[in-house]
Amino acid sequence: MDLIRTIDELRARLAREASIVLVPTMGNLHAGHLSLVEEARRHGRCIVASIFVNRLQFEPGGDFERYPRTLERDGEALEKAGCHVVFAPDEKELYPQPQEIRLAPPKSAAQLCGDFRPGHFEGVVTVVAKLFNIVAPHTAVFGRKDYQQLFVIRALVRQMNYPVAIVGVETKREPDGLAMSSRNGYLSSEERTEAVRLNRNLKRIKDLIEGGRRDFAELCDLASRDLTAAGWRVDYVALRNQSGLAVPGPGERDLVVLGAAWIGRTRLIDNLDIRA
Ligand code: PAF
Repeated sequence: MDLIRTIDELRARLAREASIVLVPTMGNLHAGHLSLVEEARRHGRCIVASIFVNRLQFEPGGDFERYPRTLERDGEALEKAGCHVVFAPDEKELYPQPQEIRLAPPKSAAQLCGDFRPGHFEGVVTVVAKLFNIVAPHTAVFGRKDYQQLFVIRALVRQMNYPVAIVGVETKREPDGLAMSSRNGYLSSEERTEAVRLNRNLKRIKDLIEGGRRDFAELCDLASRDLTAAGWRVDYVALRNQSGLAVPGPGERDLVVLGAAWIGRTRLIDNLDIRA
């Protein structure tokens, strides 16, 4: 496996590769990321993982500074997982000048996490577009835990005509159901025990809707109240349709319930598909 720090070197390394699959990450990898690499191997011959903590997608006062940088450990895990190239540029390499040219995210980004993380999706689509331009993959793999991000990236590809197939991979979970996330490492042991409450609430909504309930707003409100009563600060618990990430109309069946909430200083997100 090659660890590459510059764009020129990366382009030289990939010049003769006919089948490149990109797994974009911010590092601090866990089993969820490694499952993306495993999936990537089904889609092409040269697997490139990028590791870059992208300042543009962190809101002011966010956890950019404390986001764990664990390149050595990440490299070892990626090599074991069958990755061929790790692209780990520093900030000067990816943003040699202030990044004045940025992409505007689609309308679907102006809700849910977009309401609570100003500039986040602009930062995501800008860096993902840059990575697509640099790596020129034919496929890119993303986790479904960041459901809205995946939705927005699919729109980026469609609307900007990137010749990249986007593959979404199921969320990896801890045995108690907590979605794996680099941010789980911020949790104290008491917070870690409590953290599964978000997933339990989403699961309850899923089960009730799949059992016939249609009072969506009431169900989301109950979940928010349960989290709040247990000391969480809730950004949202919301139901959307899968086709447009819009509030579902009557009779829509392919839905998703999404939640984002703070436990102490840590913001967790999760989602579950629902077949109503
Ligand atoms: O999901 C992430 O880790 C990041 O948002 C991404 C896609 C690597 C862009 O920085």
